[in-house]
Amino acid sequence: MAHSASPRENARRTADEQHYGEHVFRPQDEGEGDRIDLGALAYDATTTARLRELGVGPGWRCLDVGAGTGTVARALLREAGAAEVVAVDRDVRFLAAEPTPGLTALEADITSDGFAPGRFDLVHARFVLMHLPDPGRMIDRLAAMLAPGGLLVVSDAVDLTTRDSPENSFTSTMRAMWQGLHDTIGTDVTWVPNCPRMLGTAGLESVAAEIHVPPLVPGSPINRFWVETWRRARPAMTATRLVDEATIDDAVRCLDAPGFHGFSPGMLTAWGRRP
Ligand SMILES: C[S@@+](CC[C@H](N)C(=O)[O-])C[C@H]1O[C@@H](n2cnc3c(N)ncnc32)[C@H](O)[C@@H]1O
Repeated sequence: MAHSASPRENARRTADEQHYGEHVFRPQDEGEGDRIDLGALAYDATTTARLRELGVGPGWRCLDVGAGTGTVARALLREAGAAEVVAVDRDVRFLAAEPTPGLTALEADITSDGFAPGRFDLVHARFVLMHLPDPGRMIDRLAAMLAPGGLLVVSDAVDLTTRDSPENSFTSTMRAMWQGLHDTIGTDVTWVPNCPRMLGTAGLESVAAEIHVPPLVPGSPINRFWVETWRRARPAMTATRLVDEATIDDAVRCLDAPGFHGFSPGMLTAWGRRP
């Protein structure tokens, strides 16, 4: 008798066949660059402060993996004084739109076996590995791209604020978003708290981590980022049956309501140095 796939198997199969940017978060869709920039506005200050604290500065050769619109790559050049930044993405249209001295935009799939851009003093990846299969393998591969003494800095989402929180339209919508993104493009944030341990397993030393949890303020970049993210992920979210359209609409209204208090899913940043 033929094996009929369970809903879970079907979801997994779909995720195996789809990738970030193909059906959800397509770079060619209007406003996608602006959506990435809203996330950058919410998290860049934390990222650049950490990189500065870790000593990234003049003369460094850097690789920014899944660089998006390139806000971190440009800050490395303009603020930290890095000598060179190779900014790699599976679609470089946003990087190419603003040529910057010292910035090389490299279009590549970082999961492909042929991806070997060289050795760097800094390898940075923010909100990328959570969308890829086998983040542990990716961390091993990124660690191997470090020059001796080089630094790997990885940031991904960690949901401390909605996963186990009381039910309301905002928390339900967030849960549906994580599930919907998992079912469609394979996004997984469950491993993120283990990221520091994974850097140690990859052979890195002086491993440490921090978490930044932005407050949700009406009209702020982070609130607008989530509204835009839900707009793009809406079909995947309703397909989970965890929310309907009305619940998502209510969550959007919540984020705009002057009295609303809440916290965004956070960003866990982990780093380690190659001996
Ligand atoms: C959520 S955005 C983050 C952008 C940027 N790192 C930031 O934090 O502002 C994820 C980025 O990773 C890129 N990306 C996803 N999968 C990729 C892959 N397999 N190879 C290269 N880039 C990829 C996407 O195109 C997108 O620009």
